[in-house]
Parts: sequence; C-alpha cells; structure tokens
Amino acid sequence: NPDSYSNSVPNPVLNPIPVPNSLKSSAADLVTETDQRVEKFLIMTIRRRFPQHRFIGEESIGAGEHLELTDSPTWIIDPIDGTVNFVHRFPFVAVSIAFTVNKRTEFGIVYSCVDNKLFCAQRGQGAFLNGVPLHASGQEGDILHDYNVSRCVVVTEIGAERDDEALTTVTTNICRLLKLPVHGVRALGTAAVDMCQVASGAADVYYHIGMHCWDIAASALIVQEAGGIVMDTDGAEFDMMSRRVLAASSSAVASRIAQVIRTFPCRRDDED
Ligand code: IPD
Repeated sequence: NPDSYSNSVPNPVLNPIPVPNSLKSSAADLVTETDQRVEKFLIMTIRRRFPQHRFIGEESIGAGEHLELTDSPTWIIDPIDGTVNFVHRFPFVAVSIAFTVNKRTEFGIVYSCVDNKLFCAQRGQGAFLNGVPLHASGQEGDILHDYNVSRCVVVTEIGAERDDEALTTVTTNICRLLKLPVHGVRALGTAAVDMCQVASGAADVYYHIGMHCWDIAASALIVQEAGGIVMDTDGAEFDMMSRRVLAASSSAVASRIAQVIRTFPCRRDDED
C-alpha cells in the first residue's frame, strides 16, 4: 500500500520518472527513482528485523553489488517488476519478494499493485490470491497429437535483449507456437505477474529467456504450489540463476513446449 510508506517513499503512481542514466542493460531496461526507493525501503525494513539475512535486490545489483546466492537466509527483491509498464502507465506492475534458505525458495509474494492482487505461496502450504487458493489450469498435453497443447494460452515476454540473435529467437519462438497452433500468445510486461497467470489457471504456459532471478524467484514457487510445473526452457531442472524459465499447467505441456522453443545465450545471473 503506497500510503503506508508515504513519508519515506514518494507515491509510485505519481513518480514514474526514469532517473538520470536510467538505461541499464539495453534501451528497454529502465530504472526509476521509485524502483530505487522501494528497494531501499524494503531492505531497510526487513534488515531491522533480521539483521543477519542477506539480500539480492535488482537495483542494488544494478548499482554494482555482487550477486551470490548462498545457503544463508536471503531475500530476493524486485521492487518494481514491469518498470517499462510503470513509466508508461501500462497497468501491470508488481513488487516481487522471495525468501530463500539453502538456495531454495521458502515463500514468495507477488503484489500486482494496480489491480490490488496479492499472490503468495509458502513451500508445502499452497498458493493463494488475496487469500483464495490458486490452482493451475490442469491442461494436460498430448505429446503425440498436440491436441491439448493447441488449446493452451501461452504467456511470454519479448524481454530487454535487443541483439539480432535474441530478437530472431524470440520472434521465431512465437511463430513456432502460433503454428502448433496454440490458442493465443500474450505478454503483460511483468514476468512475475505473467507467471502468476499460470498459477491461477488463466494461462497454461509461461516461458522467458533473459529475465533475472528477482523477476521469477517468488512466482516460480507460486506456480509450483498451485500445482504447476517449473523447468528450464530446454526441459532441464529449473535453475533460478540460468535466466531461463518455463512454467506450465502440467509436465506434459511443459515438455511439449520445451521441444518447440529455442534459446539464445545469456550470461547467468551468478556469473562473475
Ligand atoms: C522486466 C519484466 C519484463 C521482462 C524483462 C524484465 P523489470 O523486469 O519482468 O516483463 O520482459 O526481461 O527485466 O526490469 O521491470 O524489473
């Protein structure tokens, strides 16, 4: 709730102004003063209560902090997921917070601010949207005939990468899916909220190449706790640092989509 921190942080809705040097990795990777202030506020507040805990925050890393996920209790924070949306007032932005111990997410929260939707999950305790249990769609794939995969809604993102290889791969992947065919391909502009669409059954698949751990650490657990599957885009085990994710309503759907999409090289989040 922006009002609850109005003394220390400007109301984000009123302050979608990119800071000087607001471009990060590319022309589509922005930071605003609000991103920085929300992250500082969250870290300061949590640290007061848990002084020993570690933090991985998008803007602290962007400012040059070293990224290392250890076994220690760690908070992985994206203060505004969907910063480009925020700057343009496109109404999907979220705060994403995951808490890990031994490199495993124990709970995750995604707060979709404009529509006031609080998605959350705790390991082994289920996933919830504003207190109501969430369930993935249960759409089952049929690897041989593609019948059920062709009834899927797939969410993905163009992402912030703008080099030729990335753009060709991203657009070719969308064409390949449309030709399967799937029912539709969507993009909301925030990886965290995109993933929550799979958790809530509104979409059957989400995949993304090039996002960062803070974009999906919380929502990956939310999908799993809603009964969905999370893996690497190549079908391997999910690795939060790999910058690749594929979430789906069932492992059959996930495996089929993994056969269709191609990837492009991205530097791992934890690479020195
Ligand atoms: C971005 C969003 C976007 C995705 C980008 C992310 P940010 O996060 O999740 O949907 O396409 O790859 O970087 O920068 O707004 O926190």
